[in-house]
This record gives sequence, structure tokens and C-alpha cells, in this order.
Amino acid sequence: MKKKIAILTGGGDAPGLNAVIYSIVRGCHNLLPEYDVIGYRFGYRGLYEGDYIPLTLESTSGILHKGGSMLFSSNRDNLFNYSVMENGAFVHKGDVSDVAVKKMKEAGVHTLIVLGGDGTLTSARDFSNKAEDEDGYKVNVIGVPKTIDNDLNATDATFGFDTAVGIATENLGRLHTTAESHHRVLVAQIMGRSAGWITLHAGIAGSADVILIPEIPYNFASIVKKINERNARGKKFSIIAVSEGAIEQGGTQIEKEKVEGRPDSTNLGGIAEYIVGQLKDKIENEVRDCVFGHIQRGGDTSAADRLLSARYGVRVVELIKEGKFGNMVCLNNGSMEYVALNDVIPKDLEKGGIARGGDKLVDPNGELVRVARSLGISFGDE
Ligand code: F6P
Repeated sequence: MKKKIAILTGGGDAPGLNAVIYSIVRGCHNLLPEYDVIGYRFGYRGLYEGDYIPLTLESTSGILHKGGSMLFSSNRDNLFNYSVMENGAFVHKGDVSDVAVKKMKEAGVHTLIVLGGDGTLTSARDFSNKAEDEDGYKVNVIGVPKTIDNDLNATDATFGFDTAVGIATENLGRLHTTAESHHRVLVAQIMGRSAGWITLHAGIAGSADVILIPEIPYNFASIVKKINERNARGKKFSIIAVSEGAIEQGGTQIEKEKVEGRPDSTNLGGIAEYIVGQLKDKIENEVRDCVFGHIQRGGDTSAADRLLSARYGVRVVELIKEGKFGNMVCLNNGSMEYVALNDVIPKDLEKGGIARGGDKLVDPNGELVRVARSLGISFGDE
């Protein structure tokens, strides 16, 4: 039996997952023909269940441009603290990581490539740190940084971000024409969890008048001032781009719901609606909200993300060839490098099973915020 290189995709999907899979399969075909490539389905759940499919040139043909993951994904299967749905209820199984290792050993897995964000990479780190079993088997692990939120510290860019920014920017443009026609204020809710990267980039590129991000708490007096200034100039419409995790001064993030069985159990949401409710009686314009939601993760992958994913995929194959395991590929000042998974997700900064210490947030005094302010965009904090 040929040894296997296995791929899994975990957490929320991001455009570029298929492009990385495509590139790893082709990279292995050309650089590591002594291995077969397989893909575990539904993230870590596939490891636990031994549910994998062969990944060949044929089966991955035509996926380069497509968003989503041909391997499917799950953001609730932490095998180091596993809860599984049985007969309509969650049953807590605890640490089942040894079951997964046994399944990989039986399948002949030499290297596990994990495409994911902070939650998924936390488990990648922990699989990589597991000791050899009694037969000396140990799975080699390599991570690839995925998330539309772009909030991983250890890399300059995660794949999926550029596509999400492009979609959010285009949608802000669409809101402009209808807002202008009705003299409305339109509040666009943009993804990103506790990081304001997508909103900041799309807000500048899509000409938002107000950008609200978690890193810069806002107040309503400031937002109203900006809208009234525009009204007085004859621009009787305004676009507010708000991150789902934005925070009112003295307030907290607005949560939509708690989700059982997930390492990150909070779904953010509801802030655009909240802002509409608060602004309604404070301004002359009609005000409505528009939640961009999962549209930001769907459809085709941008050219920049396809290129980044291809570079990540090929670098992974090179790392396997060089025997450099326990690492995550990363972009560092324009070049493809790698960083230890233990540094990507530092153990001592971990909270609730996910390493938050690795979060990369917008610098409120950084260049892009200064650019936006100089363009006249308000952050709702003046
Ligand atoms: O982390 C990526 C992301 O799209 C966040 O921007 C968003 O808060 C979250 O995932 C949504 O998760 P779900 O798809 O599970 O609703």
C-alpha cells in the first residue's frame, strides 16, 4: 500500500479551499509521486469516522476557481473535546483524538494537511504534538491558514479574505445607487468576527461614509453628526459599513445565538438592526439594514486568492519533501515561508479551546485607518 497524504478542511468554508486542494494534488503528482492523496470529509469528523475519498487529478479537475470545499467542512468537531449528535441530542465523548490517530494509522496516512482558521489549527497543533504510539506511529501535520476574517497573526494573509472583500465592496456599491435614489441611510453588516479587516478594506474600497469596526468603539452622536453633515451638503444618503462584532462605546458585542457543540459557541449578529433602531428617531432619512451574510463566502474565488492558494498548496508539498512538519505555511513580506504550529497557536494564550492570542486585529492608529479618516470616512468615534 502506498503511503498517503491526507487533506481536511475545517471551520467555516472560505473561497480558496478548493484551490489549495487542487494545488496540493497536482504538486504531489509532480513532486511526490510515491504518495497517494486522500481527503477526509467534513473536517475532523471525517478523521474520527475514517471517512475519506481519493483525491486524484481527475477528481479535483475543474475545482480551482470554485468557492466552498469539495471535502465539506464542519466547525463543531473538536476531537480533543468531542460532542456528537446522537438521536437528536449532543453526547459528550471527551478526548477521542486517539481514535482518529488509529484510523489514520490503519489508512497509512503519513502526513495530514489541515486547512483552517484558529479553531481548526488548534487541533492541528495538538495532533502534531501527540507522542508516537507503541508502534512508533505518529502523524506529521502541516497547516494552511484559511479564513475570510484575515485575523491570524502568523501570516500576512489568509486565503478567502480577498474574495470576501471583493464581494463586500461590490455590494456596498450596489447599496449606493439605491440609497441615493431614496435618500436613505443603509447599514451594511459585514462578517469578520472580532476583527474589522473585511469591513475596513471593503469600506474604503466601496466608499462607505461610516465604518464601524470592533477595534474602534463607536457612539451614535458621532454617526448622526456625519449623516447630518452629508445631508447639509446635499448628499442625502449615507452608507454605514458595520462589522458584525463592532462595539458601542461602553457596550458589548451583539450576539445572535449560542451554538451548542462548537468550540466557538457564539454567533455574532444583529448589530445592523440595532443601529437602525437607534438611528431611526435621530435622523431625517429613512434607515434600513442589509446583512451581507454568507454571500461573502460563496461563489467563485478571486484571482488573488487562487494565486495565494496555489502558492500555499505548492509550499506545503515542498515542506513534506523537506520533512519540515509541525508547521503552518505562511506569507511573510511577500514570500512563502512557514512557522511552527506551536507559535501560530500559543498554548499559554488559549481560551476556551481556541487560541485567541493568535488574533490579528486592526490597529486603530494604523495606516489604513489613517487613510480612511483622511478620505473623510467616519469611524463613529469623534
Ligand atoms: O470565521 C469566518 C466567519 O465567516 C465569520 O466571519 C463569521 O462570524 C462566522 O464565520 C460565521 O459562521 P457560520 O458560517 O458558522 O455562521
